Amino acid sequence: MALLQLSAHFSSSSCAFFGDDDVLSSTSKTLPLLRRNVKCRCIAEPVEMMQTVYKTKVSRNENMAKLQAGYLFPEIARRREVHMLKYPEAKVISLGIGDTTEPIPEVITSAMAERSYALSTVAGYSGYGAEQGEKNLRAAIAETYYGNLGIQETDIFVSDGAKCDISRLQILFGSNVMMAVQDPSYPAYVDSSVIMGQTGPFQKDVEKYGKIEYMKCTPENGFFPDLSTVSKTDIIFFCSPNNPTGSAATREQLVRLVQFARDNGSIIVYDSAYAMYISDDCPRSIFEIPGAKEVAIEISSFSKYAGFTGVRLGWTVIPKQLVFSDGFPVAKDFNRIVCTTFNGASNIAQAGGLECLSPQGLKAMHEVVGFYKENTDIVVDTFKSLGFKVYGGRNAPYAWVHFPGRSSWDVFEEILEKAHLVTTPGSGFGPAGEGFIRVSAFGHRENVLEASKRLKELYM
Ligand SMILES: Cc1ncc(COP(=O)(O)O)c(C=O)c1O
Repeated sequence: MALLQLSAHFSSSSCAFFGDDDVLSSTSKTLPLLRRNVKCRCIAEPVEMMQTVYKTKVSRNENMAKLQAGYLFPEIARRREVHMLKYPEAKVISLGIGDTTEPIPEVITSAMAERSYALSTVAGYSGYGAEQGEKNLRAAIAETYYGNLGIQETDIFVSDGAKCDISRLQILFGSNVMMAVQDPSYPAYVDSSVIMGQTGPFQKDVEKYGKIEYMKCTPENGFFPDLSTVSKTDIIFFCSPNNPTGSAATREQLVRLVQFARDNGSIIVYDSAYAMYISDDCPRSIFEIPGAKEVAIEISSFSKYAGFTGVRLGWTVIPKQLVFSDGFPVAKDFNRIVCTTFNGASNIAQAGGLECLSPQGLKAMHEVVGFYKENTDIVVDTFKSLGFKVYGGRNAPYAWVHFPGRSSWDVFEEILEKAHLVTTPGSGFGPAGEGFIRVSAFGHRENVLEASKRLKELYM
C-alpha cells in the first residue's frame, strides 16, 4: 500500500498507511486514500529541538529525559519508512513488530457487533461500566484460565491491554522501588520504570539504566536467570513465554523463582501474554506454582490469542493473599489506581472477550494460535536449514536467531537492505540481546513463505 507523507498535517509524526496485507510498497497514491478503508498508523518520531519564540516555564520531567532514543518499535518503523522511500517498488514484509495479522474470528466479531447495535437501543444502552470490568467477563476469565488454581472473579481486573496495566502497576509501586527484568525483555517494563523515576541514568558503557537489576537470559543458562547472582529487588518483572527469546520457563524453574521472591520479600509481575502458545507442559500461569499467590501478580491479554491488538482487552490478576509489608492488600491499592486512572474497558471489547471464552470462541482462538504456530515452524525451519542457531519458537510466536559476533542492528539493516524484510534487533530488548534478531511469526502465510524464500536467497 501507499506510504504518504503528510507533513502538512502531522508536524512531529509521520503517517504510514497499512493496507489489508502486511506487504508494503510506496508506489505513489494520493490523499483520496484517506476516504477509503485504509489503516493509518501515526508513527511518533523523535521531535527535533525546534526554534521557538515562546517557551513555557514548565521544566521537562527529568525521567523522560533519561529515556534512550525512541521506543524500539517506532525506531524500527522509522527505518522501514526510510527504506521504503529508498526502494519505492520493493515489497517490504514485516516480521518485526509483534502485531497480529489474521482476521478476528467471526463468532467473536458478531458478539461485538451485537453489543454495538444494542447500544443504539434504550434497553441495550450502557454507559460507564465497572472500572474493574464486567462481572460475567471477570468470572469467565477466572474460570477459563485459573479454574482450579484458587483465583476468584474478584481477583481479576479487566483492562484495555497488558501494556496499559504495566504502567498502572508502576504507578501502584511508585518511584521508591527497585525492579529486576529479564535481559532481554519486552521494553515496556524498563521504560515504564524509567518514566516512574525508579532508575538511575542510562549508563552507555554497559547499555543499562542504573538501579535496575538485569537478569541475563542466554542460551548458556537456558534463558532462565542464574538466581544465585541476582540481587534482591522489590519487583521482578518476568515474562513467560518470553518476548523476545520465545522460551517458556519450566515448572521447576518457576518454583525456584517463587521461592526466590518469597526469600527476598519481592513481588513478581508475571506476564503471561503468550501462555496459549505453550505446547509442552510448562505452566500457563504463575499461580500453578504453590505459594505464588502471596508473591505474584499476573498480567495477560487477548491481543495475541484473538487478534485483539486493536480492539484492546487484557486483564490483571491480584490475589487477595498478596499484601504489602504493612499488611495492606495490594489489590485494594490497585483498585484505587484503576478507579482513578481508568474508566473501564470498552463494553464492546468486553462482549468480544466474553465470546472468546465461550466454547466456540475458545475453539476459534486455538485455531488462530495454531495458525501462527505453523508460521513459527516455517520461520524456525528456514533459519535452521541455513545453519543458524535458533531458539524459541516452540512455545511462542517468536524465533530468536543467533548471529554470533555481529551487531543486531547491522543484521537488521542487512536483512532489510538485501531482502526487504523487517525483523527486530535483539539489542533493542536489552544488552544480552546483542547478536540476536527476533523474528515474529505474525503474518499472512504467503508473506511468511515469501520471507522464507528471500532469507534462503540471502544466506544460502
Ligand atoms: C510480553 C508482552 N506483554 C504485553 C504486551 C502488550 O499487550 P497488549 O496488546 O495487551 O497491551 C505485549 C505485546 O506485544 C508483549 O509482547
